[in-house]
Amino acid sequence: MNNKYEQLLALQKSIQSLIGKETAIIVSGGQWGDEGKGKVIDLLASNFDILVRFSGGCNAGHTTYTIDDPPKKVVSHMIPCGAAQNKTCVIGRGAFFDLERFINEYKETVDIIGINPTVYIDEGCPVWTSWHAELERWFEDCRENQIGTTGRAIGLIAAIRDLRCGIVVADLFRPRDELVKALTQLYRSFYPLLEEHREKTDPDKLWRLLDPDPEEEADKLLAKAPLIESMVKDTSYWLDDQLSHGQKVIAEGAQATGLDIQWGTVPYVSAGNSCASGAELGTGIPAFAKAARILVMKALPTRVGDGPFPSEIWNRSEAEQFPKKFPELFEKGEQRDMYLQNSLARINESWACDAECAQYFQVLGDELGATTKRGRSIGDLDIPWMLYAIRINKPDFLCLTRFDMLSGLDRIHVVENYLYNDEELPPGKLPYPKFLGEVVPFRRQWTGIKENISGCSKWEDLPGSAQHFVLRLQELLGVPFLMLGTGPGRADAIVGPFEYVP
Ligand code: IMP
Repeated sequence: MNNKYEQLLALQKSIQSLIGKETAIIVSGGQWGDEGKGKVIDLLASNFDILVRFSGGCNAGHTTYTIDDPPKKVVSHMIPCGAAQNKTCVIGRGAFFDLERFINEYKETVDIIGINPTVYIDEGCPVWTSWHAELERWFEDCRENQIGTTGRAIGLIAAIRDLRCGIVVADLFRPRDELVKALTQLYRSFYPLLEEHREKTDPDKLWRLLDPDPEEEADKLLAKAPLIESMVKDTSYWLDDQLSHGQKVIAEGAQATGLDIQWGTVPYVSAGNSCASGAELGTGIPAFAKAARILVMKALPTRVGDGPFPSEIWNRSEAEQFPKKFPELFEKGEQRDMYLQNSLARINESWACDAECAQYFQVLGDELGATTKRGRSIGDLDIPWMLYAIRINKPDFLCLTRFDMLSGLDRIHVVENYLYNDEELPPGKLPYPKFLGEVVPFRRQWTGIKENISGCSKWEDLPGSAQHFVLRLQELLGVPFLMLGTGPGRADAIVGPFEYVP
C-alpha cells in the first residue's frame, strides 16, 4: 500500500468521525459550478450506500476515481459519482436524461471499472432528443444576450417539461404509436412560435425544426430503450424504502447556486434546482429536508458562459479563448513550469495586471470546462457571494476546494463587501441578479501563503499563514469547514475540524 493510499484511508476515516452518523447528506455547489463536488463526494462515498443525482443532465461533469491502487479516473456527466466506488447510483426525477449519451457513458464506465455498476433511472426524468438540441441552438441564436449554454439543451427540456408537453423515460416503454403521438404533439406545439420567426431563420434550419420525423425519432429511442429497461423505476418510492431499511444516501447536486434557475444569476443560469433545497424536489424524498448539508466552494471562483460574476478579474471571451491560443501551457512539462514560475514572480512583484493573474490561475488550476473545454474565467475569493450561497443553502459544513492555488502568493485579494447604489449590502443580501453586475466589489489584501501547500493532508502540517487564512475565513463565513482541497489527487485534502493551535 503506498503512502497516498494510506493518506486517503485516513482522510475517509476522519470524515466518517465527523459526519458518519448522518444517514442522508446533500452536497451542492456554492458558486458557478466546477467547485469539485466530485472530489468531496469521492471522499464521503465510502461511508454511504447510494448516491442520487437530483438535478442537471449531460451539461455537468464530475471526476472521481476507483478504489484501486493506483486509482483509475472516471469522468461522468450523467451517472452519479459513486459508480467508481461500486455504489448504487440513482438518476433522480430532477435530472434530465439523454439516452444515447447515458448508454455511451455507461459503457465507458464499465470499461474503466471492470464491472457493471448498479444504476437506476427515474421513470419521470424528461428525455432529450436531437430536435431539442437543434431548437436550443436556434433559441440561443435568436437571443440578443446569449447565455453561452453547454449545448446540451437543458433549458429547452426543462421549458418543455414546464409546458407539460415533453416525453419522459416511462414513455420509452409504452407502445410505439403512443410515443410517435407524443413526439408529434411536442413538435406541433412549437409550430406557431417558429412560424412567427420564419423571416429571421435560415429556411433549411427552420425546415428541420418544423418538420422532424417523429417516426424516425421514436425508432431511434426504441432501439436503445431495452438497454436501460431493467434500470428504470420509481426511484422516489425505492429510495424511501431503502432509507427505511437503514441505507445511507448522498444527494449530489450538479451545477451550483449561481446557476440555479431561481436563486442563481438569472437569466444566465442553467435550468435545474441546483441548490441544496433541490435535493428534496429532485429525488422526491422529504427526508432530504432534514439531511446534513455540505456546500462546496472554490478558493478562487470560476465561471464559464455569460452572466454576472462580481469578483471576476478577467474578460470572459479572453478567458474562453486562452487555452486554445496557448495549448502548450495546459500540457505538463518544462514550458508550463517556467510560465507558472515567472508569472508567480511577476504577481508577487505587483507587475502583473489582473488579466495576467487570471491567466496564471487558469493554467495553474487547469481551469477548462469538463463538458465543453472552454477556458474558465477567474475571480477573487468573494465573501459576499459566499455568504449569499450560505444563506440560500444553509450548510452544516463547507468544503473549500483548490486551497493550494493560493500557494506562493505574497498577498491574496479578497472581496469583503459589495457597494450597491453607494451602500454596503448586509451579509447574505444581494441585489436582484439582473442588477448584480452593478455592484462594486470592495477588496482587501490578506496576508498570503508563501509556502507550497500542495498535497498537504494534515492541518498541523499547514504553515501558520495558511491556518490563519482558513480560521479568518471560517469566522467570517460562520460555518465550519469539513475539508480543504490541496491538489487534484483524491488524497490531496485536509479534513477538519479546524481550530487554532497555539
Ligand atoms: P446549460 O446548463 O447548458 O443550459 O448552460 C447554462 C449556463 O450554465 C451556461 O453559462 C453554462 O456554461 C453553465 N453551466 C452548465 N453546466 C455547468 C457546469 O457543470 N459547470 C459550469 N458551468 C455550467
